[in-house]
Parts: sequence; structure tokens; C-alpha cells
Amino acid sequence: MKRALLIFLLVFIAMQVIQTEKTNVQASKDLEIKAPAHIKSVFETSCYDCHSNNTKWPWYSNIAPLSWIISSNVKNARAGVNFSIWESYTPEQKKKKLKRIFRTVYAAMPLQSYVRFHEDADLTREQRTMIREWTGVKK
Ligand code: HEC
Repeated sequence: MKRALLIFLLVFIAMQVIQTEKTNVQASKDLEIKAPAHIKSVFETSCYDCHSNNTKWPWYSNIAPLSWIISSNVKNARAGVNFSIWESYTPEQKKKKLKRIFRTVYAAMPLQSYVRFHEDADLTREQRTMIREWTGVKK
């Protein structure tokens, strides 16, 4: 029993050596999404931690294996939609991303695993509908 605990501890400590990148690249403010204030504030509260360069990295994002999961989520999220550089997307890219926002904002986003720790990020039905209407996508 003692031995198992020791091995667990050693593995856990060894895991901490493998740190992931937790960057917040400062992009020009001009590239940040231009949207009406009530839309942007929803994105800021519910999406920016993953879909922008202004991620608030929580203390537990320094602890493996959580750090691995969180930084990989942020990396993939930014690759799909990054509100900090939205205005650098071409009109075609924006159109595609708006369609994806329309599709995901009803249930998939923000990620459930995130909402569990950030209750204020959860969206009401009205907010989801509001974002959908803003995308201008026809059903
Ligand atoms: C906890 C992190 C997190 C939060 C918060 C979050 N997302 Fe995501 N989002 C992701 C990840 C991770 C992916 C990529 C999923 C994949 O590639 O399988 C993603 C994918 C997406 C996609 C699809 C992008 C593509 O190119 O396919 C859209 C659109 C999206 N999110 C919109 C939103 C919106 C809008 C919000 C806020 C209401 C939000 N997300 C909040 C993590 C997050």
C-alpha cells in the first residue's frame, strides 16, 4: 500500500515536468471582433477563456494532467474561432465561422466541462437565441 502511494506520488511529480504552453499573444485591438456591446459581452463572459487571446488561466491550469487538457482545449478552440483576431478573417472565413457559431451555440458551447466550474458562463435560452440571430444565418 505504502509502495503504491509512493509510486503514484513519483509519477504525479514526474508529470509536472511536462508543461504545456499557456500563451496570451497580444494581437492588435483593431483585429478584435466588432459586434454590438450586448453580443460581445456574452462572448467575453462565456467564450473568451478559450476562443480569444485573453485566456484567464486558472491556478489548476498549472497542474498536470489538467494543464494538458486545458491548454489543448484552448489551442483547438482558438484554431477554430479566435475572437481576438476575428477581423483578420476573410469574408468567407467569417461566414463559415458564423455558421458554426449558429450550430454550436445552442447546446455544445460553452463546453459543459467548463460551465461546471464557471456557472456565470452558462447561457440562457434568450442569450443563445440572441447570438443565433446576430450570426444572420438562416435555418
Ligand atoms: C472551455 C473552453 C471553451 C469555451 C468556454 C467555449 N468553447 Fe467553443 N470550442 C472549444 C473547443 C475545445 C473547440 C474545438 C472542438 C473540436 O475541435 O473538436 C470549440 C469549438 C467551437 C466552434 C467550432 C469551431 C470550428 O471551426 O469547428 C465554435 C463555433 C465555438 N466553439 C463557439 C463557441 C462559443 C460561441 C462559445 C461561447 C458561447 C464557446 N465556443 C465557448 C472550447 C470552448
